[in-house]
Amino acid sequence: MQNILNKIESKEMLVGIIGLGYVGLPLAVEFGKAGFKVMGIDVNQDRVDQLNRGENYIQDVNSDEFSRLVESGHFWATTDYSVIKDIDAVCIAVPTPLNKTKDPDISYIMQVTDELQKYVHKGLIIVLESTTYPGTTTELLMPAIESTGLKVGEDVFLLFSPERVDPGNPIYQTKNTPKVIGGVTPNCLKLGEALYLKVIDTMVPVSSPAAAEMVKLLENTFRSINIGLANEMAIMCDKLGVDVWEVINAAATKPFGFMKFTPGPGLGGHCIPIDPLYLSWKLRTVNYRARFIELASEINSEMPNYVIDLVMRGLNKHSKSLRGSKILLMGMAYKPNIDDVRESPALDIHEMLRLEGAIVNFHDPYVSSIKFDDGMHQSVDISAESIKKYDCLVITTDHKVFDYKMLSDNAKLIVDTRNAIKDKNLNNIVSLGKPV
Ligand SMILES: NC(=O)c1ccc[n+]([C@@H]2O[C@H](COP(=O)([O-])OP(=O)(O)OC[C@H]3O[C@@H](n4cnc5c(N)ncnc54)[C@H](O)[C@@H]3O)[C@@H](O)[C@H]2O)c1
Repeated sequence: MQNILNKIESKEMLVGIIGLGYVGLPLAVEFGKAGFKVMGIDVNQDRVDQLNRGENYIQDVNSDEFSRLVESGHFWATTDYSVIKDIDAVCIAVPTPLNKTKDPDISYIMQVTDELQKYVHKGLIIVLESTTYPGTTTELLMPAIESTGLKVGEDVFLLFSPERVDPGNPIYQTKNTPKVIGGVTPNCLKLGEALYLKVIDTMVPVSSPAAAEMVKLLENTFRSINIGLANEMAIMCDKLGVDVWEVINAAATKPFGFMKFTPGPGLGGHCIPIDPLYLSWKLRTVNYRARFIELASEINSEMPNYVIDLVMRGLNKHSKSLRGSKILLMGMAYKPNIDDVRESPALDIHEMLRLEGAIVNFHDPYVSSIKFDDGMHQSVDISAESIKKYDCLVITTDHKVFDYKMLSDNAKLIVDTRNAIKDKNLNNIVSLGKPV
C-alpha cells in the first residue's frame, strides 16, 4: 500500500486509459501534463495510429499540448491489452449506450472486464469512469477480478469515479471540475483519491462505488427532468398564446429557488438522453417504476415531432405543404459550438422531414457529413442567395458562428427551436414555445 502511494507521489506510475474518446483522451492528457507516463488503449486502430502520430481528434484537447506529450514520450496508444501487465493504474472510459430496446448496453464494459481478467496483477488500481447503473462496479467488475484469485482492497484496488466533462465548456474542464469517487474498500478509496488528486483540483469522496454511480445518474436525471419540464412549458405556452422565453427569463430573475432550464428540439449527446434510462432499467429489476424518468424521457423524445408540427404550421402560413418543400437544418450537433451529433434531435428531425416528403439539406460548420438511412449527406455551404431558395430554415443548433441577421434578412421562413433570433418584430420567424 505505502509503496503504491510513494509511486503516485513520485509520479512513477504508468497510467492506462481504456477508451480514448471525449472522456478518455482529455483525462490521458491531464495525466501526461502532470508528469505521468500514459498508455492509451483503444480498439479503434485508426484512432490509435492517429494518436501515435501526435494528431488529436477531440475538440477540447489542445492539439499542441497533445503532440508535445507524444513527442516527449509521455503518451502512447495501442490496441494491445497485454500492456496492462506493466500498467499500475487503469481508468476505463468506454461507451455505455442503449440497445435497440432502450436497455443498457454494457457490452463494452464486459469486453474490458474480459481483458482485465487476463492481465490484472497485484497492485493494480482500476477505476471505472463510464456512466452506468448502480451496482456495475461491485456486481460485475469485482467478481470478475476476484475470480483470478486476487482480492479487491488487498491485492487490487477498485473504484468508480464518474466523469462530468462538459464538451465545449470554456470554463470547466477535466482538471477544474470537482470529481466524485467511491472505492470498494477504504484502501481502494485512499489510493484512487491520491492518484486523481495529482491531476484533478478537487476530489469528492463518497462511501461506495454504488453511491458514486448514483451521483452521476442523479445529476443527469435532474437535467433530463428539468429540460422535460421546460419543453412541456414551451408546448403549454404555445397553446395558451404566451411566450415561454419571456416567462423563463423573468422567472430566472428570482435570486433563489429557481434554476433556469430552456426548451429545445429534444435531448442529445451521449449522456442526458441515455443515463436516466440506466437508472430506470435498474429499478425495474427491483420491481419499481421510475416515473419521473419515464415521463421526462417521453416528453423530451417527442420534441422532434413538435418541431415538425411547427414547420408545418409555418409553411401553412405561406400556403405550402411540407411535401416537396425545400428545408435547411441549421446545425446538426446536439448543442452549440461542438461537433458531436450523437443522439442529436436534429438527426430525427432530418429523417422525419424526409419521410414526410420534404427535400432536406443541412449546414453545420462543425459537421461535414452524416450517414443517414438513405445515404451520405454533406453539409451545404450557405450564402444570402442560397438561403433564399429554401422554403424554410430550421435552427436546430444555435452555433455562435451563425450569422443570424443574415439568416433572418434572407430566409422566407425560419423555425427557431433555440430562441437564437432575438428580433421580436420579424414576421418570417416561428419560434418554439411562442404562439405561431
Ligand atoms: N461525452 C461526454 O460528454 C461524457 C460525459 C460524462 C460521461 N461520459 C461517459 O463516459 C463514457 C465514455 O464516453 P465518451 O463520450 O468518451 O465515448 P466515445 O465514444 O467518445 O469514446 C469511447 C472510446 O472507447 C473506445 N472503445 C470502445 N470499446 C472499447 C474497448 N472494448 N476497449 C477499448 N476501447 C474501446 C472507442 O473506440 C472510443 O474511442 C460513457 O460511459 C459516457 O456515458 C461521457
